[in-house]
Amino acid sequence: MAHSDPQILAGRRILLGVSGGIAAYKTVELARLRVSVGCDVRVVMTPGATQFIGPLTLQAVTGWPVSTDTFDPQQEAAMGHIALARWADLIVIAPASANCIAGLHAGQADTLLHTVCLASTTPLALAPAMNSQMWQHPATQANIQALQQRGVQCWGPAEGVQACGDTGPGRLQEPTELYQHIVAYFTRGSLAGCHLLLTAGPTREPLDAVRYIGNRSSGKMGYAIAKAAAAQGARVTLVSGPTALACPPDITRHQVQTAQQMYDQVMAQVSEADIFVACAAVADYRPETCAEHKIKKGTVPRSLTMVPNPDILAAVAGLPEPPYCLGFAAETDQVLTQAETKRKAKKISLLAANRVSATAGFDADENALTLLSDQGRIHLPQQSKQRLAQQLIHHLAEQYHAYLTIQNS
Ligand code: CTP
Repeated sequence: MAHSDPQILAGRRILLGVSGGIAAYKTVELARLRVSVGCDVRVVMTPGATQFIGPLTLQAVTGWPVSTDTFDPQQEAAMGHIALARWADLIVIAPASANCIAGLHAGQADTLLHTVCLASTTPLALAPAMNSQMWQHPATQANIQALQQRGVQCWGPAEGVQACGDTGPGRLQEPTELYQHIVAYFTRGSLAGCHLLLTAGPTREPLDAVRYIGNRSSGKMGYAIAKAAAAQGARVTLVSGPTALACPPDITRHQVQTAQQMYDQVMAQVSEADIFVACAAVADYRPETCAEHKIKKGTVPRSLTMVPNPDILAAVAGLPEPPYCLGFAAETDQVLTQAETKRKAKKISLLAANRVSATAGFDADENALTLLSDQGRIHLPQQSKQRLAQQLIHHLAEQYHAYLTIQNS
């Protein structure tokens, strides 16, 4: 079987949903194709699907237990429905029966597959298969159109002779065609199908009810990276300190104030991320105490006791299964030496070093970066942060895919 660009699928996490229909037997071939190119495939079957093929068959092909029941404590313990919903880069339901499609449209949660879809923000693709009259029925057509308007992709159905003897649209597309759709889905951009988690902007460490210790970061570089990554097909989650910038379209933003809040939000999201970009200017220390009320002139303390904040990038890079990490190093002197020391100390794959000056770096529209990695140095000259972010994402994607290939070899 010829595979077009199988590398693009290596390491991708695909949740394969199977609903009740005679075409379910073809799903075995589809699962086998994906596993053969290094995809991690997990299967959820509706009870109806198990009437057509046995879960053990798909378990044998994928190497993972097949989930069928929302209320099975053993399955919940292995990977619960919420974890499954978060785990996947793409959910593909093949075959998607008329009943399955109607349930998805209505937002039902009566099977594990529907519950997972309802609990998930992961992109969903359906490969419908049913009798051609059922497919052409206005109810099915209304359901599928409404789902497409919500961004659900529809692959097929194909036309031809059906299991029941009728001829017309309603056949499940062949596994090789479905496979090509999946490849196409993940090749829409250099980061298509990746989930990129990013910190941006400054943090504010409160001193009293109205004052804080902050820094001059505007968030412009981080927001430009978020946009450039989304333009390359990444799903982007932005954890942002206070900035005046609007949230770019198609990006999920969590707004925080302090380093501790940024750390907590990143840690809550990181298990879903393929790539982590630490662009925020995080305060390394915070005042030990924060006065409940505004401190009055006469009672201002002459010295402040500061306590350390968590280092978010170091914590993420130190996780047992860390995402691919890109860090920044803003320096005023000995830029590359200090940056390389930082990269090694925090054990991160790629580090973007920049010199902070009056015209570049903090709170400026332009910047220049030098990328440091085990592969060497790449200099990106001073230019607008938008253009710089696009170049940075280009190099990040290249290095990330090279890293994945090594991981999967
Ligand atoms: N960083 C972080 N959490 C912190 C401090 C820094 O995630 N508490 C991240 C920044 O987002 C950046 C990298 O670590 O990607 C380096 O930040 P920088 O401020 O340049 O360096 P520090 O590690 O704080 O060291 P120093 O202030 O001594 O230069």
